Amino acid sequence: MRAVRAYRKRERILKFEGGFHGMNDYALMSMSPKRRANSPEPAPDSAGIPQVVRGEVLIAPFNDLAAATALIEKHHDELAGVILEPFQRVISPKPGFLQGLRDVTAKYKVPLVFDEIVTGFRFAYGGAQELYGVTPDLCTLGKVIGGGFPLAAVVGKAAILDHFDKAAVGDEGFMPQIGTLSGNPIAAAAGLATLKILQRPGAYEKIRATGEKLMAGFRDLFRSAGIPAQITGVGSLFDIVFTDKPIVDYWSTAEADNAMLGRFNQLLLENGVLKGNTKFYVSLAHTDEDVKKTLDAAGVAVAALKTGKAA
Ligand SMILES: Cc1ncc(COP(=O)(O)O)c(C=O)c1O
Repeated sequence: MRAVRAYRKRERILKFEGGFHGMNDYALMSMSPKRRANSPEPAPDSAGIPQVVRGEVLIAPFNDLAAATALIEKHHDELAGVILEPFQRVISPKPGFLQGLRDVTAKYKVPLVFDEIVTGFRFAYGGAQELYGVTPDLCTLGKVIGGGFPLAAVVGKAAILDHFDKAAVGDEGFMPQIGTLSGNPIAAAAGLATLKILQRPGAYEKIRATGEKLMAGFRDLFRSAGIPAQITGVGSLFDIVFTDKPIVDYWSTAEADNAMLGRFNQLLLENGVLKGNTKFYVSLAHTDEDVKKTLDAAGVAVAALKTGKAA
């Protein structure tokens, strides 16, 4: 976000309700709001954020191209950039949503930033932008790129990245970027080794196929049990959301039965499968046996949920 501010010489950022971009003050605006705010005004998610930051961030609902376009058209001359997770948490972009954002930001020369910390090298070797066919101006990468070690990258157009290079932009435009773990050689070696493995033919097809087997299995289990649940996402990253409504924006997940998800996760754990609070991340290391074990455990969990529901 600082890079696009330096490049555009404007300050306001447009982000999306429910979008996660780390723990900085700007990102902690309407990341997990408890109430519907008066859009486009942001709701701070944390104590300790200066009041002034609220005025620097505009919030749009994810997957609502008309609302985002209207905001960009109205505020384009104040906007430093538009940032989003192209696949926000567990929510897929509607067809045309990303391309629509690409078109309107290009029209007003407002940089479009994809936060691909989660999706980079996961949805495809070229990330969500390869899968969805939309290229941003700037992109963040983390997690897979370091093979689980502390490594992240900001990539994109040279004209924006030049602001990290004093020789290119001079003192006024320069953005220093240093950190304790920057340039960590072990993380770099782990990341390069991971990328080499991901480049093997068939790697992404295998990850996708493993995840799709799980997704189909879960779908069948919940359908047969008569429990309203959406299996949302793509093969390499998905989750179960306990609702009968489609998953389109932050409120689709925030207003679902998340206590039920907690019970399901706990039941999976009791049956030998460890899953995070939200999301299944599928790895190349997962085998058909793992899929079977997971679906067997899920079968037991679903039966227990059903009994609990009846009681
Ligand atoms: C989409 C996204 N952006 C940003 C971050 C923040 O990264 P970090 O924890 O390295 O600050 C995360 C962390 O999970 C993330 O999922």
